[in-house]
Amino acid sequence: MSKESSDEDDKQEDFFNTNTKKEDNNNSPHPDDSPKPVDEQSNNSDKNSFLNKKKKPEESKEKPFVNYQEYYTTSGVRDPGKEGRKASRIIFLRSFNNWVKASMINKYCHLLGKDVSVLDLCCGKGGDLDKYFMNKIKLYVGADISEELIKNALTRLEKIKNEKYSNNFQTKCIFIKEDLSSPQNELMEKIDKKYYFDLVSCQFALHYHFENEQRLNAFLFNVSERLCDGGYFIGTIIEDNVIVKRLRNRKFNSENKYINEKLTFGNEFYSVKFSQKHFDKKNGPFGIKYGFYLEDSIDNRDEEGNIKYVGEYLVVFKEFEKICKKYGLYLVEKENFTNFYHDYIKDNFYKKLSAKMLKDINTSFMKQQWEIIQLYTIFVFRKGEPSEKSKDKYVPYLVKNKSIIKDYEPECKTGAFD
Ligand SMILES: C[S@@+](CC[C@H](N)C(=O)[O-])C[C@H]1O[C@@H](n2cnc3c(N)ncnc32)[C@H](O)[C@@H]1O
Repeated sequence: MSKESSDEDDKQEDFFNTNTKKEDNNNSPHPDDSPKPVDEQSNNSDKNSFLNKKKKPEESKEKPFVNYQEYYTTSGVRDPGKEGRKASRIIFLRSFNNWVKASMINKYCHLLGKDVSVLDLCCGKGGDLDKYFMNKIKLYVGADISEELIKNALTRLEKIKNEKYSNNFQTKCIFIKEDLSSPQNELMEKIDKKYYFDLVSCQFALHYHFENEQRLNAFLFNVSERLCDGGYFIGTIIEDNVIVKRLRNRKFNSENKYINEKLTFGNEFYSVKFSQKHFDKKNGPFGIKYGFYLEDSIDNRDEEGNIKYVGEYLVVFKEFEKICKKYGLYLVEKENFTNFYHDYIKDNFYKKLSAKMLKDINTSFMKQQWEIIQLYTIFVFRKGEPSEKSKDKYVPYLVKNKSIIKDYEPECKTGAFD
């Protein structure tokens, strides 16, 4: 935060950082003119710490954020349909995110070889099913807290099978309803003991598990317990450094549409609102809450047209990496989406995939959409302490899941389906 800043709001905020380096702004009209790669993020969450100053937590007097669990079991469940999705003004962002996930899934399934088995944590409505089927995986277990979303995933599964695979479908699919970060969750009991996984994925959902340390531990137990040695844990999250920098710079960024609102920034398509300036030290790096709004998310305005923010928690990456080690998970790759794009696009396969997935897409509002894209990063961990044998981080030294699957009927383990 700039020292020149005069208002009281800012004077108290130097705990956010001392590094005022601005992130790249982008004006990209098309993916091929995407913003230049952002500098290697320092990943130094200590510098960004919300916890350095002994200030009294300051509560927001504004409306509380929508509870995410409630959101994903009520309005967040509704599907806008194909037409609704097409009509979205941020369809490029949605498609780009899908390209990132498809590329990552392809890369790691490919590295893992034949007959990969996958555990998709917080699978939602099964948006990634087809990405896995294209890689001919053998086993897919999807788990989510929302029974409604799991129902959508089952419908999607049937549709994909009928439209694309007719009689030739060979992936065993199992869906499980569970609060995956509840310390009482029974995910591992619900998965047959014969199944182990080569790949565990958590896409756009890790932030929900950062409410407190117990919940993160419960979640990471699920990630690691049946992940084979040498298997990968992949995911996508909002990058702590980027979001904190934007918060710090919000008053100097003339493009911030929320310049007059406390602790808020964004453009006409997204907005982030922090609820507190100072965070309670006793919670450590957990429970740092902010509200997130995206234009085309369902039911995102109240009766007066005010934004309804869905609450989530900052993933403090340095801490996350540290805790992952306790579960035998070692960082292999972490890359902001913009850098990821620049890296992957060099490979003809991913370039063609992007041309396919981003074709015929409305390319209005590209600058604003890139601004949202830059918030995100991919991460990849590998199970097992790196050794001489596993020096090359991209070569799995995998003890592969040898489970034999005899029938391909989908299974669903939720109260409603039993
Ligand atoms: C943004 S969606 C992402 C869905 C999917 N991974 C994707 O990339 O399309 C977040 C998902 O996390 C799920 N979720 C949130 N908290 C959860 C929890 N504690 N246990 C299980 N699922 C949870 C929600 O129900 C929702 O499906």
